[in-house]
Amino acid sequence: MDLPYLKIKGRSLLPVIQGGMGIGVSAHSLAGAVAAEGAVGTIASVELRRLHEDLMRPLRRLRDPAASAKANLIALDREIREARRIAGKEGFIAVNVMHAISGYREHVLQAIKSGVNAVVVGAGLPMDLPTLAAEFPKVALIPILSEGRGVQLVLRRWMRQKRLPDAIVIENPQFAGGHLGATRLEDVSNPKYGFANVLPAIRKLFAELGLKADQIPLVAAGGISSVQEMREIFSLGGSGAQLGTPFAVSTEGDAHINFKRVLADATPKDLVTFMSSAGLPARAVLTPWLRRYLGREENLRACASQDHSLCPSQTECLVHCGFKDGNSSSGQFCIEAQLAAAQRGDVQHGLFFRGAGQLPFGQQIRSVRDLVATLLCEAVWTSTENRMPVMAV
Ligand SMILES: Cc1cc2nc3c(=O)[nH]c(=O)nc-3n(C[C@H](O)[C@H](O)[C@H](O)COP(=O)(O)O)c2cc1C
Repeated sequence: MDLPYLKIKGRSLLPVIQGGMGIGVSAHSLAGAVAAEGAVGTIASVELRRLHEDLMRPLRRLRDPAASAKANLIALDREIREARRIAGKEGFIAVNVMHAISGYREHVLQAIKSGVNAVVVGAGLPMDLPTLAAEFPKVALIPILSEGRGVQLVLRRWMRQKRLPDAIVIENPQFAGGHLGATRLEDVSNPKYGFANVLPAIRKLFAELGLKADQIPLVAAGGISSVQEMREIFSLGGSGAQLGTPFAVSTEGDAHINFKRVLADATPKDLVTFMSSAGLPARAVLTPWLRRYLGREENLRACASQDHSLCPSQTECLVHCGFKDGNSSSGQFCIEAQLAAAQRGDVQHGLFFRGAGQLPFGQQIRSVRDLVATLLCEAVWTSTENRMPVMAV
């Protein structure tokens, strides 16, 4: 079987997308390295100022949400330019923007202005994305969804705006890391999200909407780490895979080595799903802070009140934050502070998002090149530059 290239905006790419991972887990180093291999490298736009000490210094005194928001845009621009430098002119660089963040519109427009090839939107339904990016038809638009219902809602709305997604990432909440595309915690393991159900159902939906079966590439995400799983995705009509955790622990991953060790050393019994302050279920490693938090969660939720709600870091990073808004149905912690602690390697205080799948190299930290080669392992690497293989699998 030949693994076909992933076709986006007329470009032929290796059928692997490195998923966007905030805060600062996928920034210029990781995205640049992946794009240099001919696959899709993705920078997560959220709170990138944390990676730039010169931007952070004045903010610590100011504690002003508008100043933090401005610094995030400067940091995003820097990260995109640096990733482009690593990847070269031909590298395909995407930016992942979470729909749930306060600066969603500004991040999308900054990413486009800074020269990305694609904008990928997760954590919410990006109904308005075609209008927002209307003046930039060359930039690919890619939503992340979990099942047919969300795909149908997005497609119908986008078709009215005369634009189709350039690909759709279908993320399975049973395996993915970070925020999960199920509304309720008890739904994350529902077999209805399995690729064998969702991919054929979406193809059927395409036919109902008058679209050709292969008009929009479908990219599966969650728990994929081997060439066998890649083959399975293709046999179900998928056009590629998005991986998060295996790239997060790669040599080029932008997080601290302690972050990579926590993810790589975790066993299935160390993983938990819980409600995040963004109001979505999330999956992470049960590290000391999360254990303490979950032990107090019931009490904290019982005390949540809109009367004494506050944003502790004064960044106002999310539109709806259960902690800031005093919403007892969501998590009661500052997600920005906890994720940033994990990124800088603070094992005691960090929140370490991780997918539930096995890692391709077990506990080893290996290069992006090794990972991409492993996923396409029967590919024949032909180019003199050792990139863009002819895939004869
Ligand atoms: C540490 C971490 C952070 C993540 N952050 C984001 C994010 O900011 N935005 C997003 O859309 N998805 C995020 N994800 C999801 C990944 O992009 C990816 O789709 C998912 O993890 C795929 O599953 P896998 O980890 O099993 O490969 C994150 C995942 C991890 C592990």
